[in-house]
Amino acid sequence: MASKLATLALLVALLGCVAHTCQAGYGFPYPSSAPKKSSSPAAPTLNYAHYYRTCKGAEKIVRDVVQEEIKRNRGIGAGLIRLFFHDCFVQGCDASVLLDKTPANESTEKFGLPNIGSLRGFEVIDKIKKKLEAKCKGVVSCADIVAFAGRDATYFLSNKKVYFEMPAGRYDGRISSASETLFNLPPPFANITVLEATFAAKGLNLDEMVTLSGAHTVGISHCSSFGDRLPRNASDPMAMNPRFASSVTRKCKSASSTVDQDFKTPNKLDNQYYKNVLNHEVLFTSDAALESSKTKRLVKQNLIPNMWETKFKQAMRKMGSIAVKTKANGEIRRNCRLIN
Ligand code: HEM
Ligand SMILES: *[C@@H]1O[C@H](CO)[C@@H](O)[C@H](O)[C@H]1NC(C)=O
Ligand SMILES: *[C@@H]1O[C@H](CO)[C@@H](O)[C@H](O)[C@H]1NC(C)=O
Ligand SMILES: *[C@@H]1O[C@H](CO)[C@@H](O)[C@H](O)[C@H]1NC(C)=O
Repeated sequence: MASKLATLALLVALLGCVAHTCQAGYGFPYPSSAPKKSSSPAAPTLNYAHYYRTCKGAEKIVRDVVQEEIKRNRGIGAGLIRLFFHDCFVQGCDASVLLDKTPANESTEKFGLPNIGSLRGFEVIDKIKKKLEAKCKGVVSCADIVAFAGRDATYFLSNKKVYFEMPAGRYDGRISSASETLFNLPPPFANITVLEATFAAKGLNLDEMVTLSGAHTVGISHCSSFGDRLPRNASDPMAMNPRFASSVTRKCKSASSTVDQDFKTPNKLDNQYYKNVLNHEVLFTSDAALESSKTKRLVKQNLIPNMWETKFKQAMRKMGSIAVKTKANGEIRRNCRLIN
């Protein structure tokens, strides 16, 4: 059954996702990737009071909508956290991930293999943008909304434990291309070397990579995204444990089936993920890879009470500063799905 999944995924990859009709999740084989260097990982333009004068109460609007949507569906909170990550790693945190295709651009980031069919939360961003445009037209960028929403989803999914400020002042980008997603976002079958390099290319160190991976404490994955791990390979020291592998195999009835990332506390943002890593109860090769000698110490450190939570706040802020755009190379979009 699992090999059937892999075959399907392979077909999808070969056909290419530019058709916009392909299956969620990853296909194999996968092009070997050389992450590109971001031009400016530091962001001197961001500050905590950015909308204080120009749109007072903007952050409250974002938080209220995120809370409401998470009340309806906790999974959407996981989607918003991932949306922030996928925005920041491709073209910087500039809302390029939100752009729809147009006749002028038939294949934007959201149609890239890591995004198509699995990224969610776009409608939440639209809802927030609509409210903010009604309140202060043309002021709040879509890139800042994505960053605030990722922060607020973290807050609510942690049952208000993980609270932090997110500086703002990002401008929205005008460039979005599906072909840039594969090389900038780490694939689920990445080993520790690839993971380290992909994050380093964005100015994030090994500790921050391990800390941010902890976001896999919430949300789901399509079975096609870990087809390389099933059936279980008994001679692979990083394989899933047999009990977990059979439980996941049972849940993966088809390529479109989904499984919780954290089978213990699937809807709570906590440090359970790191226990799962040590117990070989995680989905991806990239999760299992954190048990490598290079990072095992960091995984264990994140089990110290409050350690991961503290590090996660800082790492999310740092991720939010990757290659941010300014007035010189960006704009404040009127509609988050279209350039002005
Ligand atoms: C370390 C490298 C990473 C890899 C290889 C990776 C890969 C993936 C994959 C393949 C999925 C499942 C997609 C699907 O099939 O539905 C996923 C889900 C998710 N990822 Fe990651 N990810 C990584 C890091 C991160 C980071 C840094 C964050 C955020 C800080 C993040 C947040 C999430 C969340 C919240 C989900 C669940 C989304 C949902 O339920 O809609 N991931 N990731
Ligand atoms: C449109 O797509 C191309 C790649 O096909 C990309 O190079 C370009 O930057 C995109 N333009 C916009 C406006 O997003
Ligand atoms: C990690 O994966 C890359 C790309 O597939 C490969 O070139 C490299 O040899 C691998 N490294 C290890 C330590 O397995
Ligand atoms: C199983 O894992 C071993 C050790 O990592 C590896 O050499 C072998 O190629 C794997 N087999 C399959 C079928 O992936």
